[in-house]
Amino acid sequence: MMKADISSSRSFMTLQTNEGSFRFHAIWLRDNALDENARDPRNGQRLITLQDIPKDIRLDSVIIEDNEILCTFSPENKIIRYSIKWLLNHTYDNQKNSDRIRLESESILWDKELQKEIPKCNISELESNSISLQKWLFDIHRYGFAKVNGMSGIPDEIFRIVDLFGYVRETNYGRHFEVRTEVNPVNLAYTRLALQAHTDNPYRDPVPTLQILSCVENSTEGGESMVVDGYKIAMDIYSEDPEGFSCLAKFPARFSYDGSKEVSLKAKKPMIELSPDNELRCIRFNSRSTAPLVDVPFNFMEKYYEAYRRFAELVDITQNQVAFKLKPGEAFIVDNTRVLHSRKGYSGSGKRWLQGCYADKDSLLSKLRSLENLNVG
Ligand code: FE2
Repeated sequence: MMKADISSSRSFMTLQTNEGSFRFHAIWLRDNALDENARDPRNGQRLITLQDIPKDIRLDSVIIEDNEILCTFSPENKIIRYSIKWLLNHTYDNQKNSDRIRLESESILWDKELQKEIPKCNISELESNSISLQKWLFDIHRYGFAKVNGMSGIPDEIFRIVDLFGYVRETNYGRHFEVRTEVNPVNLAYTRLALQAHTDNPYRDPVPTLQILSCVENSTEGGESMVVDGYKIAMDIYSEDPEGFSCLAKFPARFSYDGSKEVSLKAKKPMIELSPDNELRCIRFNSRSTAPLVDVPFNFMEKYYEAYRRFAELVDITQNQVAFKLKPGEAFIVDNTRVLHSRKGYSGSGKRWLQGCYADKDSLLSKLRSLENLNVG
């Protein structure tokens, strides 16, 4: 059964199908006209602005014709066709309750159980097989991290990984940075100390959304890499203590890094960032870079610290950690807006040399979508 009716006020139409009943406003339909006068058929970009549409736009009639709906609009007396399939792919009349905190639909929360099947792929396979690349990118999208193996272990191979989907994001640390023991380190990352799992560079705005760490040498005792799902920790806190969660999400934290005379990076952002409709968007957790918190009201500060401490406890329990020791020629990539990373301490014998760089998640997701379209078609 397929039926389309307009409301008595003519301000919206209702499309009734086997999949349900969906309303579409006249202004929304007119703004989303798909004909070539309204949208560039080559790139889908809109060719009209909202001011090109009359303020008093109304629906005069709707007719179903084959797989299309023909809408007549007044006062323009304009007929526009919409594919029913397109409309059903763009419904907005079924929004879930947006008060509840939620994840992007494809995200999968994980803990140490993921250790048994760490998402990974060989670099040559990724470079030569678009299906394998699509699957690996999708794993990064849903888990927030993945490994790469099969490189030869020579320096600078890290760029082969970025080349799979996008571009390096250069920072004051350079196009890439070396992570190995230094005598007078400018950053704790360059010592032998164990580091608490963290997200990188929360003192940048925008924060780097992807980090890649690639192993050139790792003959030390210890020095394993470890990752933690920040979204899972956030959701755990949300279930245990919604008020504490709300403190971490609502009040900005401060992050700073003053590594040298030329560098003074500062950001004012929450530790748990939500989208306007309450989807988890970004986790910032880095005790080394957290500056004095001055945006939390006095009456909420103790509660804030209680939730912040709980976050740290959950990061530190092994149940939430996936650990692996990188061999030369292996690397891993993390979604730095979601997954925390760290390394365990290591001994003085042997050498540990990783190379790191940042990149942008938007280009990774763009590559993923384009491969999905390509490999489906
Ligand atoms: Fe780091």
